[in-house]
Amino acid sequence: MRYTPAAQWLPLLLSTLGVGASDADTEQLHKRALASSGPFYPSPWMDPAADGWEEAYAKAKAFVSQLTLLEKVNLTTGVGWEGEQCVGQVGSIPRLGFRSLCMHDAPVGIRGTDYNSVFPSGQTAAATFDKALMYKRGFAMGEEAKGKGVTVLLGPVAGPLGRMPEGGRNWEGFSSDPVLTGVGIAESIKGIQDAGVVACAKHFIGNEQEHFRQIGEAQGYGFDIKETLSSNIDDKTMHELYLWPFADAVRAGVGSVMCSYQQVNNSYACQNSKLLNDLLKNELGFQGFVMSDWQAQHTGAASAAAGLDMTMPGDTVFNSGLSFWGANLTLSVLNGTVPEWRIDDMAMRIMAAFFKVGLAVEQEPINFSFWSLATYGPIHWAAKKGFQQINWHVDVRANHANIIREVAAKGTVLLKNTGSLPLKKPKFLAVIGEDAGPNPLGPNSCNDRGCDNGSLGVGWGSGTANYPYLVTPDSALQAQALKDGTRYESVLSNYAASQTKSLVTQDNVTAIVFVNANSGEGYINVDGNMGDRKNLTLWKNGDDLVKNVSSWCPNTIVVIHSTGPVLVTDWYNNPNITAILWAGLPGQESGNSIVDVLYGKVNPFGRTPFTWGATRESYGTDVLYKPNNGKDAPQQDFSEGVFIDYRYFDKANSPLVYEFGYGLSYTTFSYSNLQVEKSNAHTYRPTTGETSPAPTFGNFSTDLNDYLFPSDEFPYIYQYLYPYLNSTDAKIASADPDYGQTASEFLPPHANDGSPQPLLRSSGKSSPGGNRQLYDVLYTVTADIKNTGPIAGDEVPQLYITLGGPDDPKVVLRGFDRIRIEPGQTAQFRVALTRRDLSNWDTAVQDWVISNYPKTVFVGRSSRKLDLSAPLT
Ligand SMILES: *[C@@H]1O[C@H](CO)[C@@H](O)[C@H](O)[C@H]1NC(C)=O
Ligand SMILES: *[C@@H]1O[C@H](CO)[C@@H](O)[C@H](O)[C@H]1NC(C)=O
Ligand SMILES: *[C@@H]1O[C@H](CO)[C@@H](O)[C@H](O)[C@H]1NC(C)=O
Ligand SMILES: *[C@@H]1O[C@H](CO)[C@@H](O)[C@H](O)[C@H]1NC(C)=O
Ligand SMILES: *[C@@H]1O[C@H](CO)[C@@H](O)[C@H](O)[C@H]1NC(C)=O
Ligand SMILES: *[C@@H]1O[C@H](CO)[C@@H](O)[C@H](O)[C@H]1NC(C)=O
Ligand SMILES: *[C@@H]1O[C@H](CO)[C@@H](O)[C@H](O)[C@H]1NC(C)=O
Ligand SMILES: *[C@@H]1O[C@H](CO)[C@@H](O)[C@H](O)[C@H]1NC(C)=O
Ligand SMILES: *[C@@H]1O[C@H](CO)[C@@H](O)[C@H](O)[C@H]1NC(C)=O
Ligand SMILES: *[C@@H]1O[C@H](CO)[C@@H](O)[C@H](O)[C@H]1NC(C)=O
Repeated sequence: MRYTPAAQWLPLLLSTLGVGASDADTEQLHKRALASSGPFYPSPWMDPAADGWEEAYAKAKAFVSQLTLLEKVNLTTGVGWEGEQCVGQVGSIPRLGFRSLCMHDAPVGIRGTDYNSVFPSGQTAAATFDKALMYKRGFAMGEEAKGKGVTVLLGPVAGPLGRMPEGGRNWEGFSSDPVLTGVGIAESIKGIQDAGVVACAKHFIGNEQEHFRQIGEAQGYGFDIKETLSSNIDDKTMHELYLWPFADAVRAGVGSVMCSYQQVNNSYACQNSKLLNDLLKNELGFQGFVMSDWQAQHTGAASAAAGLDMTMPGDTVFNSGLSFWGANLTLSVLNGTVPEWRIDDMAMRIMAAFFKVGLAVEQEPINFSFWSLATYGPIHWAAKKGFQQINWHVDVRANHANIIREVAAKGTVLLKNTGSLPLKKPKFLAVIGEDAGPNPLGPNSCNDRGCDNGSLGVGWGSGTANYPYLVTPDSALQAQALKDGTRYESVLSNYAASQTKSLVTQDNVTAIVFVNANSGEGYINVDGNMGDRKNLTLWKNGDDLVKNVSSWCPNTIVVIHSTGPVLVTDWYNNPNITAILWAGLPGQESGNSIVDVLYGKVNPFGRTPFTWGATRESYGTDVLYKPNNGKDAPQQDFSEGVFIDYRYFDKANSPLVYEFGYGLSYTTFSYSNLQVEKSNAHTYRPTTGETSPAPTFGNFSTDLNDYLFPSDEFPYIYQYLYPYLNSTDAKIASADPDYGQTASEFLPPHANDGSPQPLLRSSGKSSPGGNRQLYDVLYTVTADIKNTGPIAGDEVPQLYITLGGPDDPKVVLRGFDRIRIEPGQTAQFRVALTRRDLSNWDTAVQDWVISNYPKTVFVGRSSRKLDLSAPLT
C-alpha cells in the first residue's frame, strides 16, 4: 500500500494542463474514459466572521498563535493505531497543558466501553419523524461521550444515504431521503454539540456500499484489486441528493467532517479537491476540520492541498510507525510544499471546532481505553507501554434508558393492522422466533456485534457499542403477560417447526413472530454478507417461519428487526397475518419498546424511512458485488441520478408493498384546508466579492536542528507517530526515496496560493450551509388535521412538492412534523418552504435556480397518500 504523490496526481495534472493522455499511453487512455474529478485550489481558509463561529475563531486564533510548528503538526496527526486510549487520538501540547483530542465511535453509543447505553439506530430515529426526539437522542449520546472524555464523537451519518437497500451501513444513517436525513443529521449535531462534544458528519461522500471501499479489506475477501471503488456522481445528483444533508450539517454548525474511503470520480475522497475544497469548504462554507476515515489518507502534501485537516489514526497503514503527515508534514512546511497558511488553517479549524462546543484548554481526562475493559493495562496499547489504570468504568447512562425506549417505540412502524392490535390482556400469547430471545452466549459475545444470534438490537461494525443489558422481546412480553394474567409461551428458535405448530394451533392463541435481517461494516463477514446484505430476504429461515406460523394460526403478528427493507411480498397479504410491525434497530430497550407499541401504551406514529419494494429488482439499484474494471478501481456509476428509493418507484412505476413515509396509527386522521401563503422574499442575489488573503499565525524556525526528537530521555514509544525529525538530513528524516520534489512538480497549479480568492456565487458570505438566501422562506403552507378516531394519537403530516421539470421526481419530501392530537380535535400543520426547497441545481450557472416549470405542493400521510394539493404560483 504505497502511493506516491506523483502517481496520484499525474492524470489530474495532465488534464489541468490541457495535455490529456498521450496517445501512446494506453493506460492513460483507458483512464481518460473513466469519470474524473476536476481540480479546485487553493484550499479555502477559515472565515473569522462566519455565522456562529466568530467567538470560536477568536479563541482559536489566540491559542494557535502561541503554537510552534511541531505543536500544530501534533494537532493534525494521529499518534497511530492503538497508540492511545481512544479509537483515534492526535498528539498533545504539554507545554500549554493541552491533552490530546479523543476521536471516538459513535452512532449508537460509545464503542468498546462499559456502563454506556446502546441507542436505537439513526434509521430508527428517522422513522419517528420527530425532530425533538432526534435532538434528545443526540444530546444524550453527547452526554455519554462527554462523560468518558471523548472530544469528537464520530457521528452522525449521512453517507451512506441509502442508494441501495442492501448497503451494509444504511442503518447508521437516517433515510434514503435527503430532507429527512438532513433534519436527522442537523438535530443530532445540535444535540451532540450542545452537550459539549464535537460532532463529525460522515462519511463524505458517496460511500454507499461496503464492497471495495478499502483495498486491503477487498483483497482479504479474495478480490484482486489495487484501487478502491469509485462512486461516479454527476454534479446535479451530488447537489440535489448526496450533498443536501451535508449542507444541513454544515448549517447546523458541525465541527468536523470525515472523508470517506472510496473514490469519487476516480479521486480518493480524502484528497479530492473538488469535494473538500470546492463543495464542502467553499460552496458550503464549512469552518470546522476534515478528518480522514481510518487509513483513508493516501498522500501527504497532496491531501493537505486538497483540504484534509487531520489524518486518522495517523499511520500510513495501521501500525506501520510511518505517516504521510507527522514528520513528513513538518518537513513539508519547512521545505515549502505545504504553505504556512495551510497548516495554520488546519490548526485553526481543529481548535475552532473545539472551542465552539464550549471546551476549554484544560480538559477533563479520558477515563476509558477502547482496547480493553480491564481496569489496568498499557495506556499505549500497540506498544504495550505505560502500564497503569486505563479504565475507570464511569457510568454515563443517567436516565437515557427512557429516551432509548421512547425513540424505539416511536420509531416502530405499524405496517399492517386488521384489528388485532393493540393487545388487551390477550388470553394466550405465543412468541415465536430466535429474534425474540437472547443471544445464548451473551449480548456482547460477538466482536463488534458481528453475528446474528438472538434478538437484533443493532447492526455490526464500528458503529456499535457494548450493551449494558438487552431487554429481549421475550422477557418484556412475558413480564407484561404475567401482569395481565395472560398465558405465555415462547419458542426461541426458527427451526422448531413441530413444537411451533403444536403451540400456535391451539385455540385462543395470539402468535407473535419475530424475524430479522442484519448488516454492518465491511470488515466483518456474517454468513456471507461482507457488510452489505447479499439479499433482501429475512435471515435464518425467517420467511418459512412466517409462512408456516401464518398457515397454522389465524391471528399471527409479525415483528421485523432489520437494517433496511426486506421482501414481504410472499406473505404480507395473508389474512391470517393480522399485523406487521417494523421495529428497526431499537437498541438496549428493545423488548420494552415493542411492548409499548403492541399494547398501545404508545399509539404508533412511526413512518417508514425507505420504500418496501416488491422485489429486489424493483429498487433499480444494487450493490456492486464483483469488481468490474480488472484490477483497477471498480466503477460504480450513479447513473440513476436523483432517482433512488421512492423517487425511482414513482418514476418507473415499480412494484412496491409499502411506500416511503407510510405507517398506521390506532386512531384515524383527516386532512383539510390546505392554504398557501406567499412571502415577499427578496430576489436572489448571487454572492460576489472575494475572501481576505490566507492568514498565518505565528512564525517558525527553518533550522532542522530545532525539529529533532527533544532528547535521549524522550520516551519514544514503539510505532508511535511524532511531529519530530530523526535526522537533520531531510531525506533521511522523511524515509522517502522520492524526497525532494517541489510543489510545482507534483501539486496542481494554485495549490499554495494564499492570495484573496473569488467567492462562489452559490456560497455564502460568512454563512455556513451556502448562500443564506437559499433559506429565505418563499411560501408558508398550512393544513388542518383532525383526529377522527376514538383515542389520542400523533400524526406525521408530510409535505411534498413537484418541481415540475422533465428530469424531476414526481414528488419530493420537503417538510414534516409530528403533532399530538386529541380525539375530535383539529391541529394545524405548518411548513415554511425555502428557496432551496423549490430550486434545482443548475450545472451551467453553478447555482440553485428556481425553474419556470409549474410547481405543486402536496400534503398527506405518506409519499403516496397525498390528499391535499395546491399550485405554487
Ligand atoms: C464527477 O464527474 C461528473 C461528470 O463529469 C461531474 O458532473 C461532477 O461534478 C464530478 N464530481 C466530482 C466530485 O468530481
Ligand atoms: C506531541 O504529542 C506527543 C504525544 O502526545 C507528545 O509526547 C509530544 O510532547 C508533543 N510534542 C509537542 C511538541 O508538543
Ligand atoms: C471521566 O471523564 C470525565 C470527562 O473527562 C471526567 O469529568 C471525570 O472526572 C472522569 N472520571 C474519572 C473517574 O476519571
Ligand atoms: C513520509 O511519507 C512517505 C510517503 O509519502 C512515506 O513513504 C514515508 O514512510 C513517510 N515518512 C515517515 C517518517 O513517516
Ligand atoms: C452465533 O452465530 C454464528 C454465526 O454468525 C454461529 O456460527 C454460532 O453458532 C452462533 N452461536 C450461537 C450460540 O447461536
Ligand atoms: C377460545 O376458543 C374457544 C374455541 O374456539 C372459543 O369458544 C372461545 O370463545 C375462545 N375464547 C376467547 C376468550 O376467545
Ligand atoms: C439471505 O441471506 C441470509 C443471511 O445470510 C440467509 O440467511 C438467507 O438464507 C438468504 N436468503 C436466501 C433466499 O438465500
Ligand atoms: C389461516 O389459518 C387457518 C388455520 O386457522 C388455515 O387453515 C388457513 O389455511 C390459513 N390461511 C392461510 C391463507 O394461510
Ligand atoms: C529514524 O531513524 C532511524 C535510524 O537512525 C531509523 O531506523 C528509523 O526508521 C527512523 N524513523 C522513522 C520514523 O523514519
Ligand atoms: C518536502 O517534504 C515532503 C514530505 O517529506 C516531501 O514529500 C517533498 O518531496 C519535499 N519537497 C522538497 C522540495 O524538499
